[in-house]
Amino acid sequence: MPAVVLVGAQWGDEGKGKATDLLGSRVDYVVKFNGGNNAGHTVVIEHADGSSDKYALHLLPSGILTPTCTPVIGNGVVVDLEVLFHELDGLLARGVDPGKLLISANAHVITPYNRTLDKVTERFLGARKIGTTGRGIGPTYADKMSRTGIRIQDLFDRHILEQKVEAALAVKNQVLAKLYNRRAVEVGAVVDELVSYAARLAPMVADTSLVLQQALDRGETVLLEAGQATLLDVDFGTYPFVTSSNATAGGACTGSGIPPTRVERVIAILKAYTTRVGEGPFPTELHDADGDYLRKVGAEYGTTTGRPRRCGWLDTVIGRYATRINGVTDFVVTKLDVLTGLEQVPICVAYDVEGVRHDEMPVNQSDFHHARPIYETMPGWWEDISGCRQFDELPANAQAYILRVEQLIGARVSAIGVGAARDAIIQRHDLLGQD
Ligand code: GDP
Ligand code: IMO
Ligand code: MG
Repeated sequence: MPAVVLVGAQWGDEGKGKATDLLGSRVDYVVKFNGGNNAGHTVVIEHADGSSDKYALHLLPSGILTPTCTPVIGNGVVVDLEVLFHELDGLLARGVDPGKLLISANAHVITPYNRTLDKVTERFLGARKIGTTGRGIGPTYADKMSRTGIRIQDLFDRHILEQKVEAALAVKNQVLAKLYNRRAVEVGAVVDELVSYAARLAPMVADTSLVLQQALDRGETVLLEAGQATLLDVDFGTYPFVTSSNATAGGACTGSGIPPTRVERVIAILKAYTTRVGEGPFPTELHDADGDYLRKVGAEYGTTTGRPRRCGWLDTVIGRYATRINGVTDFVVTKLDVLTGLEQVPICVAYDVEGVRHDEMPVNQSDFHHARPIYETMPGWWEDISGCRQFDELPANAQAYILRVEQLIGARVSAIGVGAARDAIIQRHDLLGQD
């Protein structure tokens, strides 16, 4: 099988973790290719005795829960080592063996000063803040691009590491002390902390691009799983209210070292309504009882920061954009069950920007800020759909909603999430393209 990419179509939290979990044992490698512990995937695991466990993963790829699958942290990821070992220990304590985890020698490390800088920069921005997760993501990618970053491989040579940390802190300490009135960071303390992880890290470090290429040559299946989503992508998202990496399908290649010619399928996860965490424009956002309803029924609170998510109706301008930017072959529409019980379900089909109709995402930031949704309204349904496993078991109005969405976004809806449980999903087409 070729490589398969899985991305979020909106502003994150679409249910990517659950979709990866669904592919489960059909996948040999799951690769996280961008972002870091700003992500939050909630995966529900059901045990044979009927009990269930909720796992919240931030840094580790969700494939870590499938015993037959090798999880990989690719070169495009930024790694907070304290979080890495905390998550690994958490899994070990729950009986999950993360034995096979591989980490790219070229992945960058989130240093303690980058965490500090993320927080103080946001505070300094005040009303103009991005609403970041405060995990040091932006400053670490900034260091990578400025060529002052620290990579996983640097941890194994104390002398080199000292030189690199010293170079990075030369400017940063000035900024911290003079601009933000913070204490300067000591080179030795940072180096000691990073080196303290080296021994435990060593067996996991690999040339992951080579490992993955060899797996593809053997005919194995590699799933490249995005953190964040299309509209949080640093190039194609709602800049500057984005994360600092490429969360779209193109990022899967640069973040893993797998060439584009090996990627044949792109699966996008689309929530049946829209949510966003943090600041930035959101045309279909609801500030009324409907928004509160979606937040409550959909349990829309951030997995990473616990912040209430902003909620609104489904926006198919965004869906179409996701299809185009990512080359989506299959959509998974999640959380359709959350829309159950509404009299009418509005779908945003286009925008009105100061009297002009836009059927595609406006390229100009101000236009997107001023976009007013143009809605088409579909009749709702009342029946509990969480037990449906076939498309034709869904109420006629729910079927009509999905078919209309499919038409508007321009790619097939191959699976539909109908509940939080692991198996609460309707499969219409094979996600790996076997039908
Ligand atoms: P991710 O960041 O894209 O992996 O998504 P999150 O895990 O942050 O948020 C998605 C949440 O929705 C999780 O709590 C999932 O358990 C839950 N979820 C996923 N699919 C469905 C679904 O079809 N119905 C319902 N009710 N919940 C779902
Ligand atoms: P998953 O993988 C939703 C948002 C933050 C903020 C912006 C920049 O769970 O879908 P950052 O800390 O990345 O510099 O913050 O991006 N953000 C997410 N929102 N889901 C995520 O990940 C997110 N990761 C970052 O809220 O607005
Ligand atoms: Mg999430």
